[in-house]
Amino acid sequence: MNDYERFIAGIKKLTGIDLSLYKEAQMKRRLTSLYEKKGYHNFVEFLRGIEKDKSLMNEFLDRMTINVSEFYRNAKRWEVLQNKILPKLLERNKRLKIWSAACSTGEEPYTIAMVLSNFLPLSDIKILATDIDENCLQKAKIGVYPERSLNEVPPDIKAKYFIREGQFYRVKEEIKHTVAFRKHNLLSDPYEKNFDLIVCRNVMIYFTEEAKDYIYQEFSKSLRPGGILFVGSTEQIFNPARYDLEVEDTFFYRKK
Ligand SMILES: C[S@@+](CC[C@H](N)C(=O)[O-])C[C@H]1O[C@@H](n2cnc3c(N)ncnc32)[C@H](O)[C@@H]1O
Repeated sequence: MNDYERFIAGIKKLTGIDLSLYKEAQMKRRLTSLYEKKGYHNFVEFLRGIEKDKSLMNEFLDRMTINVSEFYRNAKRWEVLQNKILPKLLERNKRLKIWSAACSTGEEPYTIAMVLSNFLPLSDIKILATDIDENCLQKAKIGVYPERSLNEVPPDIKAKYFIREGQFYRVKEEIKHTVAFRKHNLLSDPYEKNFDLIVCRNVMIYFTEEAKDYIYQEFSKSLRPGGILFVGSTEQIFNPARYDLEVEDTFFYRKK
């Protein structure tokens, strides 16, 4: 085993996270810059440090999970969700089962709630939001964001669902109540079933082909027939039929 492989094995034992399913060059680059900054010379030394020091473990987790997000990220896609996808889903069923997978600090599931509030009372909206990173989930539950995270939020929604606190914006409780946050590793935890809509954006880019294939298979099994998978704007699925999916619109796939 080389230095990085020994690191991968050690991290898997410590955390259950399998780094071999993340693109290697990218991951190595990010982690090398962290361990060098901390004064380590190789991955095995870095692993020994992580084993002893909880705060270094947190810094490692923070570096390996890239948490950037924003409300209404790629706003045009959210317009398609609002104008085309949701009306069709709601024709069949008013109580949609929705999952924001790899939700980071909550901007995505809260955006889903805000878009859905154009159709339904907030009391009828229930969204499951998951991420591998517990620190993110804590921040998501607090729901306070810098102004730059809100750049794409339509003005009426901003006025309705955010409270300004100095330089920051707090999401109103009524929106927070629509989302249940939970820790979930897409590569190892069981997937719930019968979703009408799964939103999973800007995480597949970090995974190997093998890992992507596994996750798309699982998403497909988790969607009910007619359910929709909404992916990130650089994450088109090369061969959707392989997963029993068909293109509904760019970046939206329907389970057959
Ligand atoms: C760039 S953010 C995407 C956030 C949001 N979906 C968006 O598009 O703005 C990627 C997220 O994927 C999460 N992540 C990475 N590996 C994961 C895994 N194996 N299972 C679940 N989440 C994971 C990270 O913790 C991070 O919060």
